Amino acid sequence: MSALLRLDEVTVARDGRTVLEGASLVLDPGERVAIVGPNGAGKTTLMRTIVGLTPATSGRVTLFGTVCREERDFRPLRPRIGVLFQDSDDQLFCPSVVEDVAFGPLNAGASPAAAEAAARATLGHLGIAHLGERLTHRLSGGEKRLVCLAGLLAMTPDVLLLDEPTNGVDTANGARLRAALAAFPGAMLIVSHDAAFVAGLATRALALEHGRLRPATIHTHAHPHAHVHPGDASHAHQAAGAADGQTASEAARNAGGSPTDRRA
Ligand SMILES: Nc1ncnc2c1ncn2[C@@H]1O[C@H](COP(=O)(O)OP(=O)(O)O)[C@@H](O)[C@H]1O
Ligand SMILES: [Mg+2]
Repeated sequence: MSALLRLDEVTVARDGRTVLEGASLVLDPGERVAIVGPNGAGKTTLMRTIVGLTPATSGRVTLFGTVCREERDFRPLRPRIGVLFQDSDDQLFCPSVVEDVAFGPLNAGASPAAAEAAARATLGHLGIAHLGERLTHRLSGGEKRLVCLAGLLAMTPDVLLLDEPTNGVDTANGARLRAALAAFPGAMLIVSHDAAFVAGLATRALALEHGRLRPATIHTHAHPHAHVHPGDASHAHQAAGAADGQTASEAARNAGGSPTDRRA
């Protein structure tokens, strides 16, 4: 099967500074590829270049087998790629949540009733049907993130590009985000500093360094973690990597640490 997205030796300069310098990438169907790298490495620029928002200075961008050089090459293919921007406020623009999520299908030619039905179904699938009538600009950061994702999923894209999707997202919304992405049948590129999120979702990882992409390793290990609970109910947690019947504190001890369970 041919690649969904392909970058060959792509170079991008912003304000005269080279950000990407010979970056190459292939995203095949079914892949969920994590891209890691420090702040300023060019991860957001990479995503923008894939969809033609920040043009490549040299090299080649190929989307679904079509080499894309100009805006007119990218435009017809963009509906197949859902981009979750790093800043949700760059993405939300309708007053109400349901209008915002319905905008894509409506713009793609669905009737108002069909677009609204698609929006409500997608919000329900994400577990946020209750946000439908809310004003987008009054949502919390995590709620905005999920509404943005709903807007993308309502378009049934083939590929998702996710730029730091879990930033500012609480535990409950993080679980909704993870479940929705795990159920997404298409391919995705995931830029994230959230190691647990990447480990749970990605099929492979690439590191962006000095403007180029190189293979990186994803690994998980049991380790202690601090958390705060309301109330004083005594309880134990199963740590990631803990064997059956082993508590979090046992797993943590075995891993050479101790859990910190502060109760508020
Ligand atoms: N709109 C812009 N105009 C000019 N330079 C930019 C712009 N956005 C980002 N840059 C620069 O491009 C480089 C890479 O930024 P970015 O792609 O946002 O990195 P990352 O997402 O990995 O943190 C940085 O040096 C940044 O200052
Ligand atoms: Mg960024």
